[in-house]
Amino acid sequence: MTELFAICATYEIQDGDARGFVLARLDADGNKKAWPIFIARRGNSFHGYENVCPHEGKRLDAYPGEFLDREANFLACGRHQAKFDPDTGACFIGPCKGKSLTPIEIVVDDGDVCLVNVPLAEEDGLDVEDPNEVPEVLITGD
Ligand code: FES
Repeated sequence: MTELFAICATYEIQDGDARGFVLARLDADGNKKAWPIFIARRGNSFHGYENVCPHEGKRLDAYPGEFLDREANFLACGRHQAKFDPDTGACFIGPCKGKSLTPIEIVVDDGDVCLVNVPLAEEDGLDVEDPNEVPEVLITGD
């Protein structure tokens, strides 16, 4: 059975924009661990990726707080300015050229952007600023 977990409504991410979330997953030992992700939108297409740069493992938005090269409409890591194709997550400029962001499976269901079959911790959260803080807000499943 497919399990969907609503992350946000589609209208909450503007066309050409991206938005980050910090969820909670269980690790192999059953401990809750923060899981930063982001959702990018282009038209009516939504793409989800782990918010981890393949160069140094940092959050893309850690420096200076955005996921985008707004002039060129690419995904970008603020730390060393790697650029990524929003549709594939592939890095084509920067120190991790040839590597890719880790995609996450999402679908749009009844106006919501939803994770597909991701085993989240019982209590999960959204929009947590500190990536080391385990969120406390519950996500409801469909
Ligand atoms: S950490 Fe992202 S480009 Fe270096």
